Amino acid sequence: MKRIVILISGRGSNMRSIVEACTAERWPARVVAVISHRPDAAGLTFAASYSIPTAVVDHRAFATRDAFDAALAQAIDAHAPDLVVLAGFMRILGAAFVRRYEGRMLNIHPSLLPAFPGLHTHRRAIDTGCKLAGATVHFVTPELDHGPIVLQAVVPVLPDDDESRLAERVLAREHVIYPRAVRWFVEGRLHLERGIVTQREGEPQLLLP
Ligand code: GRF
Repeated sequence: MKRIVILISGRGSNMRSIVEACTAERWPARVVAVISHRPDAAGLTFAASYSIPTAVVDHRAFATRDAFDAALAQAIDAHAPDLVVLAGFMRILGAAFVRRYEGRMLNIHPSLLPAFPGLHTHRRAIDTGCKLAGATVHFVTPELDHGPIVLQAVVPVLPDDDESRLAERVLAREHVIYPRAVRWFVEGRLHLERGIVTQREGEPQLLLP
């Protein structure tokens, strides 16, 4: 059984999609903890209702990023995870923290990386006149929203889209690709070499609209 720790900041809908798929599809894995840096993260309530242990490492209690990162790592390592999943986790993590989980930490970002790393991706895609948007699951590297790409989903940008409509359509695809990518990881179906991820069975790593 692979052990998964999920980090969230808020709503936690991606976390929920992973927890539910893990049970429904009988992955050889278990979500052993959900950790947030915000005590009021709504996703913590869902995790608790699923009897998943939760923890809060409140970033406001730490004077420096390094001190926060160290406390977070301690909370994570207490659960001895094989995989750390960032699911809407909105804190920037230091390089030492990221290296500690190198090759075993995934993130989802609501854009077709390497386009639009950082915040406000949907607004930036619309303002740039992009005809395509999407979401990316990737291994985490010290550079923000960067790192070997596991799986991407493409979503069209429609003429009357605003930020929230586009975000909603992208989020629906996030809930498809994130559980799939995590399942590939826990089933040992991902091969990472020189920054390129391949799916061992050749399953498509791109979902078209
Ligand atoms: C998602 O769009 C994720 O890609 C982004 O923040 C949002 C988090 O949503 N980083 P949720 O907390 O998983 O519902």
